[in-house]
Amino acid sequence: MEAIVGDDIVASLVEISKHYGTRKALDAVSFDIRNGEVFGLIGPNGAGKTTLLECLTGLRHPSSGSVRVLGCDPASRSPELRQLMAVQPQEAALFPQLTVLETVELWASFYDSHEPVDEVLDRVGLLEEAAQRVRALSGGQARRLLLAVTVIGRPRFLVLDEPAAGLDPQAKEHLWDVIRKQREAGGTVLLTTHDMNEATELCDRVAVLVAGRIAACDTPARLVSELAATNSVTFMTPAGADLGSLDSLPGVTAVEVEVTHEGRQSVRVRTLNGDLTLRRIAADEQLAATDLDISKGGLDAVFRNLATMHPHQETAHTGEGGE
Ligand SMILES: Nc1ncnc2c1ncn2[C@@H]1O[C@H](COP(=O)(O)OP(=O)(O)OP(=O)(O)O)[C@@H](O)[C@H]1O
Ligand SMILES: [Mg+2]
Repeated sequence: MEAIVGDDIVASLVEISKHYGTRKALDAVSFDIRNGEVFGLIGPNGAGKTTLLECLTGLRHPSSGSVRVLGCDPASRSPELRQLMAVQPQEAALFPQLTVLETVELWASFYDSHEPVDEVLDRVGLLEEAAQRVRALSGGQARRLLLAVTVIGRPRFLVLDEPAAGLDPQAKEHLWDVIRKQREAGGTVLLTTHDMNEATELCDRVAVLVAGRIAACDTPARLVSELAATNSVTFMTPAGADLGSLDSLPGVTAVEVEVTHEGRQSVRVRTLNGDLTLRRIAADEQLAATDLDISKGGLDAVFRNLATMHPHQETAHTGEGGE
């Protein structure tokens, strides 16, 4: 095995493609995951996130391209890599007749060194359920247990596919704590999520996967500033003002109108070029727009903008808006 400690790059994907029959689930995906970062993968259902994680963890073979994780080919299933990379298992991997404590102890026994079992149970919020049988756990409790067995072996690289799915707000906090602790301890995390707030709060960098391709990859702040800086323009117009021209303004992606109780129209225009849209609206005498405002979109605006684009358009929006 190559040197693995002290490397700046924990995982590297080069031109990974994956076909399922004629369907191309991944199309020449390349990126690196750096040591010590929380890296988020977001994208619409069916974009290829799980497939990508499976290629990265050796559960699936890419059709072409190369993957290296901690200096190894993950498909080799090397024992060294098993000690260093932890992938959250499917619920089916749990034994229903074992207790929560026995389950975590069993997983701990797979590793040369591991966290104290009680401490991990406490971290995921399962200390009170320690003696409970796995078969009697609720769905969310079972997910907490999956998280516990994933982190018990002090992994250097933690890989989580939608870890927040089905968790209540308190369990989500436990999850976020676990992920932050992993980073504090110098570990690296790759996770997928459909929760843009989670991606913004937790992730150092985020890749947006759309139809099997990386549409953008950067820090949440830079993605927002480059791809959603001036995401919506709002204004008021008198009753009856004709809004028909708004749709054809450059960069406009959607127009939403609400009629206020005095009969005026409250308008929100979603746009990829807020400054230009704002100037055009202000200059349109027929609109007689007042209360003009631009609001900054968050990562969900980035997601909306990229996810609705055809993949070949990806570069058209990169860098627009500027800082
Ligand atoms: N075993 C398989 N056989 C055939 N097609 C598959 C298989 N697994 C996934 N796919 C297809 O590959 C594409 C990517 O699926 P994948 O599960 O990676 O998406 P995802 O981004 O994880 O979606 P989600 O957000 O719903 O979890 C989808 O079109 C899916 O139908
Ligand atoms: Mg998935």
